Amino acid sequence: NKSQAWSALFSEPMSDLVKRYTSSVFFDKRLWLADITGSLAHADMLCHQGIINAADHASIQSGMATIRSEIEAGHFEWKLDLEDVHLNIEARLTQLVGDAGKRLHTGRSRNDQVATDVRLWLRGEIDLIGGLLTDLQKALLALADKNVDVILPGFTHLQVAQPVSFGHHMLAYVEMFSRDAERMQDVRRRVNRLPLGAAALAGTSYPLDRERVAQTLGMEGVCQNSLDAVSDRDFAIEFTAAASLAMVHISRLSEELILWMSQSFGFIDIADRFCTGSSIMPQKKNPDVPELARGKTGRVVGHLMGLITLMKGQPLAYNKDNQEDKEPLFDTVDTLKDTLRIFAEMVGGITVKPEAMERAARRGYATATDLADYMVKKGLAFRDAHEVVAHAVKTAIAKGVDLSELSLAELQAFNPQIEADVFEVLSLRGSLNARNILGGTAPAQVRLQIARHTARLA
Ligand code: ARG
Repeated sequence: NKSQAWSALFSEPMSDLVKRYTSSVFFDKRLWLADITGSLAHADMLCHQGIINAADHASIQSGMATIRSEIEAGHFEWKLDLEDVHLNIEARLTQLVGDAGKRLHTGRSRNDQVATDVRLWLRGEIDLIGGLLTDLQKALLALADKNVDVILPGFTHLQVAQPVSFGHHMLAYVEMFSRDAERMQDVRRRVNRLPLGAAALAGTSYPLDRERVAQTLGMEGVCQNSLDAVSDRDFAIEFTAAASLAMVHISRLSEELILWMSQSFGFIDIADRFCTGSSIMPQKKNPDVPELARGKTGRVVGHLMGLITLMKGQPLAYNKDNQEDKEPLFDTVDTLKDTLRIFAEMVGGITVKPEAMERAARRGYATATDLADYMVKKGLAFRDAHEVVAHAVKTAIAKGVDLSELSLAELQAFNPQIEADVFEVLSLRGSLNARNILGGTAPAQVRLQIARHTARLA
């Protein structure tokens, strides 16, 4: 059975069922470019160290170039019999260049090879994700900038609390996604280390120059313990954790967009091209994109649970369990990238409806705290002011009016110190402007934050 790299020891061929069960080529083939890149760096070092000669090195390089163009053209024949991406490429190389191909694997195991491939691939994806997070932040920033002076009822417990600038609300998400970008950069430093040279688990007796390989591959260093290098997938787990957090932030935004677009809120509209209709109800326009994003968040968080559970019972060093790291990792990357991309576009298709937001803010007595603060400035203790305003709100509710619609005489009945200037305080805009503190919702502050983020993202 010549199709298997270890066949001499085996007295019977692998059963077809086992072949299918153990092979990973139909999903790990997406690592092909990382696999070739890693192999070329390894071959360059083998030659530099005098472990293979220059002729073999040149053959490996030209064979890999052929394989690369075959894969890019879609002509490469992936074989289930060859189990995974690594054996498929190596077998083809040997077919193309003969013995030089057989020398490539000197001082290497698939264990350090696959760990290297996944890290190289993930590093590239992290960089793409960083760009997409920047795009999304820019889109949110543009929406914030257009709507600094639009007043949204801020909620706690989903009950109207205090008025906030719609721009301020969008900037809250910019903060979240900027931390997600930071986390990705931090994860990247630990992803970007080289396992090659660890070989199967114990290192190798060949005089490999691991630092040279790391440098060729643009990695920040080499893994310092061979057992650890081939067996841990913590870098994939922490990436998936960072991805889960980014998805959770998208999911929270989604939940708000869905609520805001509902008839009960009517705060925003989402452009038709991001919505779908109903096959039975002609009047329907549904926010499918945010709903799906909210749903897909569950899927990514599930992958995090899958990966971390995959690791927990494994003795050192490499175990085949680790082949199961790929599908959840790949799907996490795909889902996050698609979601970031579609959100960056969709945010530009959001229309805000300021009148509906202001109406809701007024209906919820959003300036009650401002009235209490006003009384504190007149000398009342805050707790007492809180109590007085609660009575005023009760009265206003009974009359079906906003606090600002009570007459001065009616207000003075609650506290004789109240004067005509109270009506500015009771206005939504007065409330907003009053919160002129670093991180607060006053439009002046929001503009400062927009300028800071714009400079940061430039
Ligand atoms: N396809 C394997 C994986 O994804 C490659 C490493 C296999 N190593 C081994 N000793 N069977 O983990």
